[in-house]
Amino acid sequence: MSKKKCIMVGVGGMAGGWIQHFWPPFSDRMEFAALVDVNRDVLNSRGQELGLPSSALFTDVREAFERVEADFCCIVTPPAFHREAVELACARKLDILSEKPIADTWDACCAIYKTVRSSGVKMLVTQNYRYTTRILTLKRAVAELGTVNYAIGRYASDYRVRGSWGNFRHEIPHTLLVEGGIHHLDQLRNLCEANVSHIAGWDWSPGHIRGNTDTFKGSDSFDTEPCASYVLKMTNGTFANYEGNNLEVGKTNSWHSEYYRVECEGGAATLDKDHVVRIEERGESGTLKVREVPNVKAQYEGHVMMPFQFLEWLDGGPTPPTALEDNIQSNAAMFAAIQASETNSTIDVQEFVKQATG
Ligand SMILES: NC(=O)c1ccc[n+]([C@@H]2O[C@H](COP(=O)([O-])OP(=O)(O)OC[C@H]3O[C@@H](n4cnc5c(N)ncnc54)[C@H](O)[C@@H]3O)[C@@H](O)[C@H]2O)c1
Repeated sequence: MSKKKCIMVGVGGMAGGWIQHFWPPFSDRMEFAALVDVNRDVLNSRGQELGLPSSALFTDVREAFERVEADFCCIVTPPAFHREAVELACARKLDILSEKPIADTWDACCAIYKTVRSSGVKMLVTQNYRYTTRILTLKRAVAELGTVNYAIGRYASDYRVRGSWGNFRHEIPHTLLVEGGIHHLDQLRNLCEANVSHIAGWDWSPGHIRGNTDTFKGSDSFDTEPCASYVLKMTNGTFANYEGNNLEVGKTNSWHSEYYRVECEGGAATLDKDHVVRIEERGESGTLKVREVPNVKAQYEGHVMMPFQFLEWLDGGPTPPTALEDNIQSNAAMFAAIQASETNSTIDVQEFVKQATG
């Protein structure tokens, strides 16, 4: 079988992971046909790393798509640039593997959804956190404990120094939700095995709310909202609670170390930054018993699962769980969360979804 040709769009920060770690296990199934980045220095250095000729390096996505023969593109630009790349890919009938979130605004997500559907291309959105050993083990524990009552997710990082979370994340609107919360809302859907029916809560900046960034040390690291707290009602009658904080001074639960607790009929399953999944349950005498759950090994750990699922899909395999069709639900929850915050109200997430799919 001939190798599928990939155009990488955005070859900066996270694309380093894609080029060095996530794609290489599948080098017998794909090859890089071209790279695109608006930053010429980054582009040249990645091109050199991959041994690509200068004719395969582009600063303009439109030009790359027009001039290079390819089967699919992999989009790893900041969210505000996803829509343009997706629309150009659809016009060229290139299948798409894109980093999360779908886009930076709900309007752009809806436009992407409609364009992808009408063009017939396949689009997979990266939700790598579903496929880590720690989360697969947590899912196994939840399956053992029966019906879910509610789930709690906590994410907390110390990004009080400007630039410590990558420059653009200190500037974009609703930064915690758009760049971070999308992973956690998707994970809460995954753990509750349902979509979000309604969402209520707020995202905020403690400095800005108080009207003076000097009153909350570190909050001037962000132009917009680094903190969030939400309650989710799920479509299957379960509930979830999300806490997100990019100004953590105490205990962090940062990337790949998020805290989750899933309260179920038969007990509670917990996961903290020690990466051990524990089941808490009552013995016959009513005493609390805690036991550790053996790790469930991922077929491909985290991010690497995404190119695997994508290539299988292109070769006629199953539609991956976080294909656009499904992932629009996580993005709807995230943009509904923003509206909930801005309007101090509870938002019907499925009404949001209809705006994209209707
Ligand atoms: N799934 C994950 O765990 C994870 C982790 C980090 C980042 N991400 C996602 O990856 C994407 C990129 O984030 P990053 O951290 O790599 O950002 P980054 O700023 O480090 O890199 C983005 C690159 O895109 C380039 N770029 C910007 N606009 C472009 C355009 N119009 N055309 C071509 N290139 C353009 C920039 O020059 C830069 O080199 C985002 O969607 C982010 O949410 C996902």
